[in-house]
Amino acid sequence: MNALVSQHLADLAYVTAIALFILALKWLSSPATARRGVLAGEIGAALAVVTTFFNPTLVELKWVLLAMLAGLIVGIPLGLVHMTAVPQRTAVSHAFGALAAAVIGISEYYVHVPHITPFGMTEIALEVIIGSLSFTGSLIAAGKLQEILPQRPITYRGQNYVSLGVLAAAVILALVLIVHPGMTVLFPAIVVISLIFGVLLVTPIGGADMPTVISLLNSYVGLSAALLGFVLNSKVLVVAGALDGSSGFILSVIMCKAMNRSFTNVLFGAFGQIQVSAKTEREQRPVRSAVAEEAAGILSAANTVVVIPGYGMAVAQAQHKVRELFDLLSQRGVDVKFAIHPVAGRMPGHMNVLLAEADVPYDKLIDMESANSEMAQTDVALIIGANDVTNPAAQTQQGSPIYGMPIIEAHRARTIMVIKRSLSPGFAGIDNDLYYSDRTLMLFGDAKAFVSDLVREISGGGGH
Ligand code: TAP
Repeated sequence: MNALVSQHLADLAYVTAIALFILALKWLSSPATARRGVLAGEIGAALAVVTTFFNPTLVELKWVLLAMLAGLIVGIPLGLVHMTAVPQRTAVSHAFGALAAAVIGISEYYVHVPHITPFGMTEIALEVIIGSLSFTGSLIAAGKLQEILPQRPITYRGQNYVSLGVLAAAVILALVLIVHPGMTVLFPAIVVISLIFGVLLVTPIGGADMPTVISLLNSYVGLSAALLGFVLNSKVLVVAGALDGSSGFILSVIMCKAMNRSFTNVLFGAFGQIQVSAKTEREQRPVRSAVAEEAAGILSAANTVVVIPGYGMAVAQAQHKVRELFDLLSQRGVDVKFAIHPVAGRMPGHMNVLLAEADVPYDKLIDMESANSEMAQTDVALIIGANDVTNPAAQTQQGSPIYGMPIIEAHRARTIMVIKRSLSPGFAGIDNDLYYSDRTLMLFGDAKAFVSDLVREISGGGGH
């Protein structure tokens, strides 16, 4: 095959990969098509990688294969972590992506110096700065989520000035290099300063905001990969990086809205003042509780039930039992829907993933706005291991850490039932007034065990 034909074939493969990436993002935006989206993304990535193997400039294939083997050795165990550890796992993946981008930028500099145009030097400098800061920033985020590092925001006086000063130093050195690319002594300094800046950027942010930070760092890594695409003249990298960068950015904005966080604060790492949690004295007010038999009776007699799942459902791995409960109630003519809060659980899409795993039909999942518009006509709001995302304090108590956060308004349903083990607070560390309402029944127990009891009662096997 002559070189021209193979070049055309390679271009065609890259364009196909790009189209698959775009389709992947489109399909990923709905639970009904998300699996197809994942598959499209995987095929696109595989196609891009395989095509690169045929690149005539690739002379030392053995090193690439060795690197891939090393990646597999690290990547496979990483992919097998427990579901609740996925946020920190994602942060580690971003760290590796960022490191790869930074290292390639560094090698490009040393390969081409001093014959680098000002434009080329700008690309390399930007890419290396963003890649390096995203590398250390992602590692700090992973450490906080894994609780190896303190979750609380670490702040000190004048911290924003110090951080900005460090970033400014990297930018100034980069400007000097753009004019004098041959001043090789400056380049390692840029790398080291950027690595330090990544640490300074993320340490002042509390653990509560790490998932948003991770999503934002993801978009930085995408930006860095796009710049790398310009450096290497790889269109597929430019597009894939831009898609990654923009989708990560949009996700960060959505998460900030859902958690009522200031986006500018996430952007500039100025979260220092925000409390991660506000542990309060547990109130001693009485609550009404019920056993599975009573709760099963109420559910069976209802016309409409809205299930509100939360972090506790994930911890208990109750999703399969919840699916059984859904089947049983549906067979009895009860209209059951699942209301999904955008930040229920601990990572974006957490509830969607669990319910999809249990094959809950997608058309039974409704978003927060639809759920709230139906709530007043709902017979039973069945909360399973969710807390903050239903806490009316978000609407009523100014000064509460969650004030202003949009919630699923379970309190407007005719009857509210809450499955959780105790009256303990959720992530935000605050009491939930909903539990003390005279329309609320607390169903104390582990989510999986309690839902199993409900299933047994409803299917007529109670008492066995
Ligand atoms: P939370 O407010 O954290 O409440 C979860 C509740 O589950 C707890 O009150 C706990 O009560 C209960 N629970 C724990 N284990 C259980 C088990 N085995 N069985 C039954 N219940 C169990 O959860 P949520 O309502 O899903 O809200 C999510 C929170 O996380 C929000 O504050 C959100 O801002 C924050 N957050 C979300 C994300 C994303 S992206 N989703 C990222 C970071 C932070 P007991 O101990 O009494 O059982």
